[in-house]
Amino acid sequence: MSDDTLNARRPRVFVARRIFPEVVAQLREHFDVSTHDTDEPLSRDELIARLQGCDGVFVAGTEPIDATLLAACPTLRAVCSMAVGYNNIDVPAATARGVVVSNAPGVLTETTADFGFALMMATARRITEAEQYLRAGHWKQWSVDGMAGADIHGSTLGILGMGRIGQAIARRGVHGFGMSLVYHNRSRLPAEDEAALGARYLDLPGLLKAADHLVIVVPYGPTSHHLIGAAELALMKPSATLINVARGGVVDDAALAQALAERRIAGAGLDVFEGEPAVHPGLLEVPNVVLTPHIASASLPTRLAMCQLAASNLRAALTGQAPPTALNPEVLPLR
Ligand code: DGY
Repeated sequence: MSDDTLNARRPRVFVARRIFPEVVAQLREHFDVSTHDTDEPLSRDELIARLQGCDGVFVAGTEPIDATLLAACPTLRAVCSMAVGYNNIDVPAATARGVVVSNAPGVLTETTADFGFALMMATARRITEAEQYLRAGHWKQWSVDGMAGADIHGSTLGILGMGRIGQAIARRGVHGFGMSLVYHNRSRLPAEDEAALGARYLDLPGLLKAADHLVIVVPYGPTSHHLIGAAELALMKPSATLINVARGGVVDDAALAQALAERRIAGAGLDVFEGEPAVHPGLLEVPNVVLTPHIASASLPTRLAMCQLAASNLRAALTGQAPPTALNPEVLPLR
């Protein structure tokens, strides 16, 4: 063994969230690992303090990694997230400092699509509302239009954001439920992909007017902040539903709560919220919304796969290889 190898210190990694113990154990095979082993997020100051002297950090979609934090943690060389959405990380600021950033795309696509579809069905068929009605003891007799909702089969599915997850939801709708498909995206799908799904590309107002069930799957950022507000909701059919499995902030929750209360749309299914885990009080008051706590990717095998992908990215980044899903590979090789 060379003197260099003997003298080399193991890279230091901080895991900023409670994750699966087996993934921490895998990281310990390669790194000196310290952990914040609870679900309670660290404050910015605590996170900065814990990152001193660290080479890499394992985060979820929740820890804000911005220019100020990066400047305060000069030894950091890799920020690896187990989430696919990375609006919590200032990637250009990291790139400017030579810090590699990775997210976790792909491994959660089908699980998130399953959930988006489930939320759409629960919303259209009023499943949680009906359960609450039953539990509250209101079910006394059969009624011809009792808890009647909208059909999924044969209806028009609108997808806003036709990336991996949007396409996976579209496949379920078209091939499983005979839905017609309209979509809007920054760029159009290749003609053969549109043909395979029978997909019709529309501008945003056209999509809002055409969809019976609108599923939002766009990433969050300055250009998608309040992409759906009062004016956009006003374009939707009164019978339509809106499903958000993207990020809070894409929809103006106050405007949505008002539209739901006034029955300007029929219902909504929301897994993500502006300022979560807080939920706009107006959404908690209306019956025609299904609310879930940001769990679209939460099947156990998928959450484990997301953690393992983030750990693989850290291993690669800190051992001189290209992380499989780096967002800024241009900073490689690391300093
Ligand atoms: C993601 O991976 O972006 C999910 O929303 C979980 O944060």
